[in-house]
Amino acid sequence: MTNTHQTGHQTGFYSHNGAMCADNVALSDIAENYGTPCYVYSASVIRKQYKALENALKHALPKNNKPLLCYACKANSNIAILKLLKDLGSGLEIVSQGELVRSIKAGFNGNTIISTSFGKNASEIRACLKAGILQFNVEASDEMEMINTIARELGKKAQIAFRLNPDISGGGHNKISTGRKEDKFGNSAEDVLALYKLATQDMHNLNPVGLSMHIGSQVSQAETFKPGFEKLSEMTKTLRAQGFKVTHMDIGGGFPIIYNNETLLDFDDYAGWVRDIIAPLGVQIQMEPGRYMVGNAGILLSRVEYIKTTPSRKFMVLDAGMNDLIRPALYDSYHAIKPIKENSSPTQTYDIVGPICESGDIFAKNRECSNVTSGDIVALMSAGAYGFSMASNYNSSPLPVEIMVDGDNVAVINKAQTIEEMMERETIPDWL
Ligand code: LLP
Repeated sequence: MTNTHQTGHQTGFYSHNGAMCADNVALSDIAENYGTPCYVYSASVIRKQYKALENALKHALPKNNKPLLCYACKANSNIAILKLLKDLGSGLEIVSQGELVRSIKAGFNGNTIISTSFGKNASEIRACLKAGILQFNVEASDEMEMINTIARELGKKAQIAFRLNPDISGGGHNKISTGRKEDKFGNSAEDVLALYKLATQDMHNLNPVGLSMHIGSQVSQAETFKPGFEKLSEMTKTLRAQGFKVTHMDIGGGFPIIYNNETLLDFDDYAGWVRDIIAPLGVQIQMEPGRYMVGNAGILLSRVEYIKTTPSRKFMVLDAGMNDLIRPALYDSYHAIKPIKENSSPTQTYDIVGPICESGDIFAKNRECSNVTSGDIVALMSAGAYGFSMASNYNSSPLPVEIMVDGDNVAVINKAQTIEEMMERETIPDWL
């Protein structure tokens, strides 16, 4: 990498003399050297996010009650990011066998991994048990039986917690709210009680240790968590009164990041509820933040291909599309979009779109943005979470490159897929 933009020890994404940088590196150099579309992550921002949460909890909670932060790696499962978080002391929340294999490759120890997948399949359960994961969060009775059967085959005892559905609406969008009774996630209080009983009394290869809950994503008010915590506390007391042991409590993730002008969760308030409601239960606390760790640490760089003007609109046509970042198309979500070189010309109103053949391939409608022309590079901000991890090959578009920056260091952490690689696993039958 040449021409790095030395600016001292800056972290994150910021403007220096009119040019946007990631840590000490100019984004224009990255775009030039690695091409676009291109995800860029700042390692230092991820560290900062992790430490801020860890510190808020440390201040609020008793010394002997250090929560295990299990990064929800569905947000971004690149193995370099996993390694970075492992080195910070993070555990991991996984939802598939693929994520398990990634976590092992990144150096995680099974005993810091919690599987929360919905509809865990046999192969995944077997792999998790062989890797000695810390815990399965159980979603349903049949799933629990399957875990017991496979654990018996392997001569193991699986630690399980039951996911409680608190019937609370939390989260920034209908599609990412998970704690209402009509959602597919979790079990009612009555069902948790029955399952706990069944597991303790009849399923000898299970070790039920507690409860879990995750109500949704982008939860910005600490008070939203409170009724859920209270339900966990009540349930714990009910279970203990019936002689069951409850030693672990997974209180989920769902912390918001800045996309536009959202209110962030006040961690001190949040940690206060954890201290007041969960800590007195004397359980090992576990948490599953995903977006919070990586969301603001990543951007998607894209080149302006064309400006297309029609009688009613001005389209900024990018080389990135919904295949690279599907959040705006799927959730109508907002991502700030900024040219990486500041320009003082008057703003224009654009519809900012990708090259995919769908009208839904739109990043922003009626967005004010400084004047850009073909060849300019823009950054789609706050794209570190659920960006690359939800990317696809739609329209036979190869997956974009991922870059990590850390101070002056720059590295490719995932090469851009080639068109050949995209077709590598396809075959034409010889009878055709
Ligand atoms: N734990 C469980 C059980 C989850 O289902 C999730 C997210 C998390 C933790 C992490 O939630 P977070 O801290 O990241 O909010 N694709 C959507 C978000 C889907 C979230 C799915 N579950 C988006 O782009 O907004």
